[in-house]
Amino acid sequence: MGRKFIVGGNWKMNGDKKQVADIIETLKKGPLDPNVEVVIGVPAIYLEYVKNIAPANIEVSAQNCWKVAKGAFTGEISPAMIKDIGCNWVILGHSERRTIFKEQDELVAEKVAHALDSGLKVIACIGETLEEREAGKTEEVVFRQTKALIPAVGDRWANVVLAYEPVWAIGTGKTASPQQAQDVHASLRKWLSSNAPAGVADSVRIQYGGSVTAANAKELAACPDIDGFLVGGASLKPEFVDIVNATQ
Ligand code: PGA
Repeated sequence: MGRKFIVGGNWKMNGDKKQVADIIETLKKGPLDPNVEVVIGVPAIYLEYVKNIAPANIEVSAQNCWKVAKGAFTGEISPAMIKDIGCNWVILGHSERRTIFKEQDELVAEKVAHALDSGLKVIACIGETLEEREAGKTEEVVFRQTKALIPAVGDRWANVVLAYEPVWAIGTGKTASPQQAQDVHASLRKWLSSNAPAGVADSVRIQYGGSVTAANAKELAACPDIDGFLVGGASLKPEFVDIVNATQ
């Protein structure tokens, strides 16, 4: 189907200058599969530093941004600023943003729209909580979160990657089984085939995220509708190289 595998690292609020330089050294040594796109999500304060030391085969991404270009929004950064330091990606709608910082679907959609307007590419995160899964609402939640993105993205799906991250699997060591992840990815694609512009269901890349490690990455990567990963904890470790190379 020609969807290029894409592995994202999400460092979250971790690392210091020495540690991030060490991670970049490890990634430089790799070797990283040249057929895989690699995007690392870096704390805002280290974005420019990491951008300057990262090799050309690694894209550097912000983990969040605000929904307008500039102004009186103390503490925020804008897509224009992210672009200004040479970065081309932003992660939006991560479950930690949604739960801890109370970001709703509508705000996430506004951020996605403005990031795309500004020329950034977006990793847009969706996923259900344990409570929602146990109540049988996984699809309902994932479709609702994606539906909010439809008008925001418009015809710009080539610049968007969806990251399905069941909240119960994030940082818990409880990975979704390959079948559980594949099932949600497949039903999301089916939903997109009737709710997104023609062709998007087949072309959009859907990453899986939630306790991905070198030990489970190969089996997950073998699923037909899993087009990559968004990796938290393991993206800070040397095993991230093996996760990038999981399709080899
Ligand atoms: P995890 O985090 O790999 O540590 O579970 C994934 C994420 O939050 O993107």
